[in-house]
Amino acid sequence: MAKEKTEVSEKRIVVLEGDGIGLEVVREGVRFLKAIQDRLPFRLKFDRFPIGGRCLRKEGLPILPQTIESCQDSDAVLLGAVGDPRFDDNPPHLRPEKALLDLRASLGTYCNLRPAKIYPALYPASSLKNELVAGMDLLVVRELTGGIYFGQPSLRQNGPEGRSALDTMIYSEMEVARIARWAFRMAGARRGKVTSVDKANVLKSSQLWREVVGEIAEEFPEVALEHMLVDNCAMQLTRRPTQFDVILTGNMFGDILSDEASAITGSIGLLPSASLGDGAPLYEPVHGSAPDIAGQDKANPIAMIGAIAMMFQFTFGLPELARDIEKSIEVTLEKGFHTPDLALPGGQLVTTEEMTDRILEGL
Ligand code: IPM
Ligand code: MG
Repeated sequence: MAKEKTEVSEKRIVVLEGDGIGLEVVREGVRFLKAIQDRLPFRLKFDRFPIGGRCLRKEGLPILPQTIESCQDSDAVLLGAVGDPRFDDNPPHLRPEKALLDLRASLGTYCNLRPAKIYPALYPASSLKNELVAGMDLLVVRELTGGIYFGQPSLRQNGPEGRSALDTMIYSEMEVARIARWAFRMAGARRGKVTSVDKANVLKSSQLWREVVGEIAEEFPEVALEHMLVDNCAMQLTRRPTQFDVILTGNMFGDILSDEASAITGSIGLLPSASLGDGAPLYEPVHGSAPDIAGQDKANPIAMIGAIAMMFQFTFGLPELARDIEKSIEVTLEKGFHTPDLALPGGQLVTTEEMTDRILEGL
């Protein structure tokens, strides 16, 4: 009798290392994924492309059209970080960061989830006093493909009064409504509170933002909504970060507040992010390329491994595996293993690679 052919499904992951420590953390991310291949109900396949400063040096562009196409056709994109000070004086369309903005726009990843949770073992690493950070567990839901990052016109010009430059902060009702629904759904599965952050005392775009978020809130009666001005939110994060559950905000405010939240959790090297939307999802650490420590095996791989956990949760329908990975990160930190960004007294300093190995061991 002919043996039935068993098809094992395959997931194709596009790997974009980028610049600086992006290379190291992506290397660890891929090693991590290969090491847990046996636990997965599908085969992983990896395709690699340059992006950012390295792509600029090789190809003269921050990202190639075929890379974008390959990402669009993938099951998920794993990205390290882009940014290289050698290109600081380049015009905006020839900067490494442009690759990331193009990628977000062409994948339509309008929803950026940035969880910021403090591990008890890391209270002493926080920029705030222990008693203020204990229990901090928030999620920034950042709009990622609109607002001032993408608004047109955006230009520089020369006139009778010298040079001037213009960026446009624009949000449509549709853009606000769809990201607001994400925030309310996420809050419904957490502690049931959304803080919508804007600058409605000054900006028209924020007034619309506030109006639309209020309307969408009516679809989610089980979730409490409060509005907060962005300057106050920046302050409240340092005064009492535990008051926040879900912070819903636009592209630029979300960029700023998520960096602030990360410092409170102890290190920006810990925070993962998921960018979701209509097409292929993008998973990456919140941190940048950190050229000052690049190539020294000092980078913290936890943000990257956390991003992989988010990939299992949001894209591959394996929430239990995601929880196991998060648990192993927590236990590894409790055992006192630290990369140099943490380096707490009494801990044991480990390299990027050793940190990954410890987390794998704990799985
Ligand atoms: C981030 C980064 C990017 C952003 C840069 C690199 C364009 O800071 O993902 O937070 O501003 O969105
Ligand atoms: Mg940022």
